[in-house]
Formats: sequence, C-alpha cells, structure tokens
Amino acid sequence: MKHIDVKEIFNNPFYIGKTVTVCGWVRTSRDSKNISFLEINDGTTFKHLQIVIEKEKVSDFDRAMKLGASVKVCGVCVESEKNGVEVNANSIEVLGDCPQDYPLQKKRHTLEFLRTMPHLRVRTNTFNAVFRVRSVLAAAIHEYLQSKGFVYVNTPIITGSDAEGAGEVFRVTTHDFETPYKTREEYYENDFFGKKAGLSVSGQLEGEVAAMAFGRIYTFGPSFRAENSNTPRHLAEFWHIEPEVAFAELPDIIEIAENMIKAIISRVLERCPDEIAFFEKHFEEGLEAKLRSIVSNDFAIVEYTEAIELLKKADRQFNYPCDWGCDLQTEHERYITEEIFKKPVFVINYPKDIKAFYMKQNPDGKTVAATDLLVPGVGEIIGCSEREADLDKLLEAMNARNMKIEDYKDYIDLRKFGSVPHSGFGLGFERILMYVTGISNIRDVTLYPRTVGSIR
Ligand code: 4AD
Ligand code: MG
Repeated sequence: MKHIDVKEIFNNPFYIGKTVTVCGWVRTSRDSKNISFLEINDGTTFKHLQIVIEKEKVSDFDRAMKLGASVKVCGVCVESEKNGVEVNANSIEVLGDCPQDYPLQKKRHTLEFLRTMPHLRVRTNTFNAVFRVRSVLAAAIHEYLQSKGFVYVNTPIITGSDAEGAGEVFRVTTHDFETPYKTREEYYENDFFGKKAGLSVSGQLEGEVAAMAFGRIYTFGPSFRAENSNTPRHLAEFWHIEPEVAFAELPDIIEIAENMIKAIISRVLERCPDEIAFFEKHFEEGLEAKLRSIVSNDFAIVEYTEAIELLKKADRQFNYPCDWGCDLQTEHERYITEEIFKKPVFVINYPKDIKAFYMKQNPDGKTVAATDLLVPGVGEIIGCSEREADLDKLLEAMNARNMKIEDYKDYIDLRKFGSVPHSGFGLGFERILMYVTGISNIRDVTLYPRTVGSIR
C-alpha cells in the first residue's frame, strides 16, 4: 500500500503543497457545520496528524469519524500554525471499521484499566512513548557495548543448572500430567533431556565461559524467575543484559556499569526528547533534570557495613529490621538511595551468606566482592560481582550450599584451565526502563507482563 509515514510529513518541508497518501488509526474526531477534523496516528511518531475534511468535498467519511477506525487519506499537505502541518483531505477510505464498544474511548485511562487489555493499550500515547524509549534504549545498549569491543553472545534459555542457586526455576518438561515413573530419578531420566531442566534465571555461567575466550562479552535476552513476588518491580519473564569481563576486578566492573548507564541515558535524552517531555508532564516531575544529572555526576559508593550503620541511625521505622548480615529490603534500598544519597549508589561488599556462591570471597572472610546498584524510585537495577576465580574457594562455597558439584563441571573447569580474575553484572532491562520513564509499575513497560497468577 503506497503511503507516506506521518513522521516524514512532520519532518520534511518538502511535502508542503504536495498531494500525499497517509494511513493510520483515528485518535480523535471533531465535527462542526461544514468541516470535520480527525487526528490520526500511524505509530511512526508520537505526534498525531490532523486531517481537515471539507464535507462538501469528501464523500462517505462518517465511518472514519469513529475512534480506533483505520483509514487511508489522500489529500494536500498544508502548513498549520497550531499543528505545524496538516492534511486537507480529498478522499478518505476506511480500511477497518471500529464499533462503539472499542474500549479506548476516553482521552485518558488509568494504567490499571489498560493492563486488562495489553493488545489495545499499545495504541495509547503512554505506551507509544514507553515502547519507543524501550527500543532506543535496547539499541543504545548494543551500540555502547559494541563500541567498547564487547562480543554479543546468546546463552541458552533452557538450562540444566540454576545459576543463582536460589531454586526459583521454571521447570521444562515434556511429561504429561500422569507418568508411570516411581522415583524422581526415573522421572527425570525419561524426560526430554534425560535430566531435570529449567528456564534460565541468568546467562551468567555460560557468559563466563565466553568471557574466558573472548575477553569482553555481553548477553541480552530473557531471564525467568519463578519468584512468588507480586510487586511492582518483579516479572516472571524479564529481559536481562549481562556483560562479563576478563581481567577485571570489582572497581573495574563498577566503572564499566556506571559508564554504560550514563551513555545509554544520554542516548535516550538525545533521541527521545518528545517522549521524555511526555513522561515529565504525566509521570515524573523533574524527570529530564534527573536524567541529565545522572549523565554528568558521579554515582555514590558505600560499603554494605556502612549502609547498615546509616539505616540504624535513620529516623524512620522500617517494616523489616536490619542488622549486619541481613539482606536489604526494598524499603532499605530506597531509603539509602532516595534519602541518604539522593542519587544512584553502589552498595559494595555484602555478607557472603546472603549472596550467590560464585562471588569472590574477600580477605576478611565475611564478605564478598559484590555490589548492587540502587537508584531512586526503583531500588536495585543491577546485581554485580567479581567472580571467585580460585578453584578451592569456589568448591568450598558450593559445598557450604550443598550444591551438586557434578552439575557445574564446565564452570569449575574454567577455574582449572587458565583461571583469571573476572567480573560481570546483570542489568534488568525493565527496571532501567522504569527509571528512565518514571513509570512506577514494571507491568507497564512490558508488552505482555508475566507475573504470579497472571499470563495472557
Ligand atoms: O541480581 P540478579 O539476580 O543477578 C544475577 O542474575 C546475576 N547473575 C547477574 C550477573 O552478575 N551477570 O539479577 C540482576 C538484575 C537485577 O538487579 C534486576 O534489575 C533484574 O536483574 N531482575 C529482575 N527484573 C525484573 N523482574 C525480576 N523478577 C527480576 N529479578 C532480577
Ligand atoms: Mg540481585
């Protein structure tokens, strides 16, 4: 179907005075005595294109006046003081009717209401802006890491190990509801892979394999967590960026993470000014200033031990008590980043007992060289660590957690054959998207959110 993108019409003065064909969905319609107006959106830009219909000139346009209808308009492009440019219609063809029960009749709907119709909510301004930023952010991540010599690798989605050791894995099986097997061993032996398999919670372990050959790598793909966390920040299926770097210790990887966050935010500011202005107006006052300040200021770094001291001194009652050794809850994380530092902060050197087996053990015998990056409004967006490169210490940590060593043979071999200091991190793609857009529920930055008790 030959037509011109609405974006081109707005961006290109060449079209003024020319006859054009445009397509789109009707977003508003207004009728007066001799003239009717439509605003259409074709998804190529955030802006709607106004169509002016002189009733005498155009026949059969009534069906085009319905919200949600899809139309093809042929007309002359003219300059307009209010809209920049608009189209005086010569003819209108309705491609798809849209009856009155189209649910998006109001100008603004609540995000909760829109969540009930993921297939239609994408046609609203909010979701147009979210997904445009999401796409730009994804490209910015690839561009940045590629420009720094990182090799993009795709790690398996179905795995035989639980990378985080937390046991929150979705199982993958071809077995039916009823099976003839009497024991667990028999059950798994007769399953598709001949052993227990699940969806990957993280590509890190395989990412480390690639980093031990290519030096700097990253993954960008889905991770799956069967956590029973019904919160505004948890999805059962989320997108995960995991860089892994050989010959890098904790301060090196912190520097890489900070530089990457700054570079990708900078790109979004550059490429999505209309969307950021929209989020500023409707979702987070001061958003643009916040993002600009991220790009030009250093992030904070605080020792876990010091963070606990600061929390204990806080003039605030927390729901969860915190003492040295406890895992930080969202309320603690947000207090640290929002009230104490008022900017992104790396909390470093966590107690080893609350972190994963693969993290490098510090000489104090109590902590590991791990860090979480906390940001105001969201909390943790990055989980990061230097990896334990010493075979004996790694085995000791695995044994202390009663892990099945034989399931991790490849991972252990990396420490046996030319082990090097190395580090990596995982950035939650939807979490950073929440931070960049000011949208406070992770379900609203995802096309089809999967959460506990909800799939569509
Ligand atoms: O802190 P996590 O669990 O770390 C890892 O998976 C490491 N293997 C990463 C690495 O070092 N390569 O997860 C990393 C990030 C979190 O900081 C968070 O942003 C995001 O992944 N994340 C989730 N996002 C949405 N929903 C969930 N259920 C998430 N779980 C983690
Ligand atoms: Mg984490």
